[in-house]
Amino acid sequence: MEPWRALRPVGREAGPRLLLALFGLWFYFWRGRIVLWTVRSLLRQLRFQRSSPWHPRTCPTVLTGMTAVVTGANSGLGKQVALELVRRGARVVLACRDLTRGQEALDDIRAATGCGPQRLLLREVDLSSLASVRAFAARLLAELPEIHLLVNNAGIPGLPARTPDGLNVTLATNYLGPFLLTNLLLKGLQRAGSARIVNVASFRHKFGFVDEEHLSRGGVQLTTSQSYDCSKLLLVAFTAELGRHLQGTGVTANSVDPGVVVTNITKNLSRTWRLSFQLLRPLFKSPAQGARSILYCCLAQEVEGVTGKYFANDCTLQLPAAPACDPALARSIWSISCRLTGLGPTPS
Ligand SMILES: NC(=O)c1ccc[n+]([C@@H]2O[C@H](COP(=O)([O-])OP(=O)(O)OC[C@H]3O[C@@H](n4cnc5c(N)ncnc54)[C@H](OP(=O)(O)O)[C@@H]3O)[C@@H](O)[C@H]2O)c1
Repeated sequence: MEPWRALRPVGREAGPRLLLALFGLWFYFWRGRIVLWTVRSLLRQLRFQRSSPWHPRTCPTVLTGMTAVVTGANSGLGKQVALELVRRGARVVLACRDLTRGQEALDDIRAATGCGPQRLLLREVDLSSLASVRAFAARLLAELPEIHLLVNNAGIPGLPARTPDGLNVTLATNYLGPFLLTNLLLKGLQRAGSARIVNVASFRHKFGFVDEEHLSRGGVQLTTSQSYDCSKLLLVAFTAELGRHLQGTGVTANSVDPGVVVTNITKNLSRTWRLSFQLLRPLFKSPAQGARSILYCCLAQEVEGVTGKYFANDCTLQLPAAPACDPALARSIWSISCRLTGLGPTPS
């Protein structure tokens, strides 16, 4: 037989076989990468997901006669925090952007606690709108002379939209709105003599970075998850600077990570994200578990006088990401934020 005839069948099969082998290799490589990525993400979540040894049941703090403001109180962590504060006797202002959803939460909390209408108030505020924050703060200060507790809880995941003011909606809601609100309510907090500000941040701040131009309209384009991470980093840096501003006033400010919690936070995310969250649900905390570290900062006696710090979701003090520990950077962010929100250079 001529050599080329012997080789012909082999040559005819070699193409598909080679293709199959290459596909197998490619699939093996990518499957490996996907498995690695999934395991790495899970480990990362678990690393940040420590349960807290502190439990509200063991905390004797009573809040009778005190006033608390909780933003985003109609859902998830905010609702859980508001419920616990009402149980302890506080008058609680549910600061919500949607009054219908707010009213539903108010009814639930009233049904669970039996509290009277004087102890549970519903007020409207859209944290992404500077005008709305100003109107809310002015009304609140006129109604309530003293505020003992402000929980800046409202927040959104990274969303690819701009506010009517032209700002990145995630940075505006998660950072700039709370920055303005806190500064506007300082009078009420200082009048209380002793008060606490608790900013609900996230472990994700550690993946954020600071580019001062993002706050205005410039800077490199942020992905949605970068927007979230950066907004939380700004919030943590702001808390540290606020702690310095408020030294000696009786008002303390701390930021806290609740962990990864099953709430409505994913409602505006893509279907893939929502599905992934759904699949990983067993690894996440319930709102009651997630609210513990926030309540710890609000209530625990050992936190009295502690200020400018960051608490992890197991209620331990943790050093935040490096940019949040840089006072010069924090001062610079503060003055840009004052300019953007129309506050004077020394708002307190
Ligand atoms: N869940 C987690 O795994 C997790 C992890 C780390 C940190 N956090 C932080 O925890 C906080 C609470 O989130 P959650 O998990 O409880 O989510 P959630 O159930 O979605 O609650 C968020 C709350 O914020 C409100 N909100 C959103 N945008 C607002 C705006 N522009 N003005 C006023 N209120 C606004 C929402 O109101 P509507 O109901 O009207 O939308 C809702 O009441 C957020 O700051 C979030 O970043 C959550």
